Amino acid sequence: MKILVTGGAGFIGSHVAEAYLRQGHTVDIVDNLSMGYIENIPEGATFYNMDITSDACTDLIMSGGYDAINHHAAHMELRVSVEKPVHDAGINILGSLRIFEAARKSGVQHVIAASTTAVLGEFVHLPADETHPVQPIAPYGVSKRAMEIYAEYERIVHGLSITILRYTNVYGPRQNPHGESGVIAIFLEKFLKNEVPTIHGDGSQERDYIHVDDIARANVAALDHKLQGTFHICRNGAASVLQVVQALRKTLGQDYPVHFGPAKAGDPAQTRGTHQLFTSQTGWQPEIELEAGIFSTAAWFTYR
Ligand SMILES: NC(=O)c1ccc[n+]([C@@H]2O[C@H](COP(=O)([O-])OP(=O)(O)OC[C@H]3O[C@@H](n4cnc5c(N)ncnc54)[C@H](O)[C@@H]3O)[C@@H](O)[C@H]2O)c1
Repeated sequence: MKILVTGGAGFIGSHVAEAYLRQGHTVDIVDNLSMGYIENIPEGATFYNMDITSDACTDLIMSGGYDAINHHAAHMELRVSVEKPVHDAGINILGSLRIFEAARKSGVQHVIAASTTAVLGEFVHLPADETHPVQPIAPYGVSKRAMEIYAEYERIVHGLSITILRYTNVYGPRQNPHGESGVIAIFLEKFLKNEVPTIHGDGSQERDYIHVDDIARANVAALDHKLQGTFHICRNGAASVLQVVQALRKTLGQDYPVHFGPAKAGDPAQTRGTHQLFTSQTGWQPEIELEAGIFSTAAWFTYR
């Protein structure tokens, strides 16, 4: 297949592109390098330095002869989305819609788009499945939810074959440690530079961390099965920030100090999803336990 991966110079998109290349597919990448890095682009992929909101990107899709599009490019800084919701919406809503429209009009067989459990807002039951209420509480979640609704519109009204994958907290090699989320990457970077990271609150808040290799395999499975609809991709396992810090200290073999600061407003005590629906349709299971995943991530941050 000839596959276009948007955001393929970023953390998750580059791993997805690699997984497709390993399967023998031809992979093109579109990324404007706003958050991604040229060195993340896997060998064998063809890179187009383009913005997904540009006519050039639409033209590329219309003329590229793609069999599939895997859409990972997005604006994903939560705080910036609050300060500049129009900027966030321009990329996540309009950019995504342009891709879906061009995919449909050019006869792309299947589209996969990355979403987030941030669309759920407050978690009202755990683990969250796909029937969980959707009430995003930040512009980032709102724009991703709008993207999902446009995807559903394209599928239901126009018959576009499309999978939406909602991830929980993804971690692994190549995660940008300068972003505002991604506690494992941020803390690793700080520990390795002998800087002291801040835990917001008492560190008991739990998240569902999933390794990027498991995410890449989920993207392969979604394409193989041409799945229709929305699916949660997670580990259905929760770890607290304190547990993550302990695992990092153990892996690095040093008892690095941390600061404790005030809790972030609206930071939920616990988030966790279930991947049961996706597993029932594809057989995919998360394979990487948190300690093993932290080990490989630490190795990458240490020797990159
Ligand atoms: N990292 C996570 O924990 C997580 C969780 C849930 C969902 N997601 C979703 O996964 C996707 C990838 O996230 P990531 O963690 O790899 O982030 P990332 O920032 O590493 O990757 C996003 C890529 O998109 C590119 N990009 C941004 N705006 C663009 C534009 N207008 N045109 C072209 N390229 C553009 C960036 O340069 C970057 O390379 C996003 O859609 C995000 O919403 C990530």
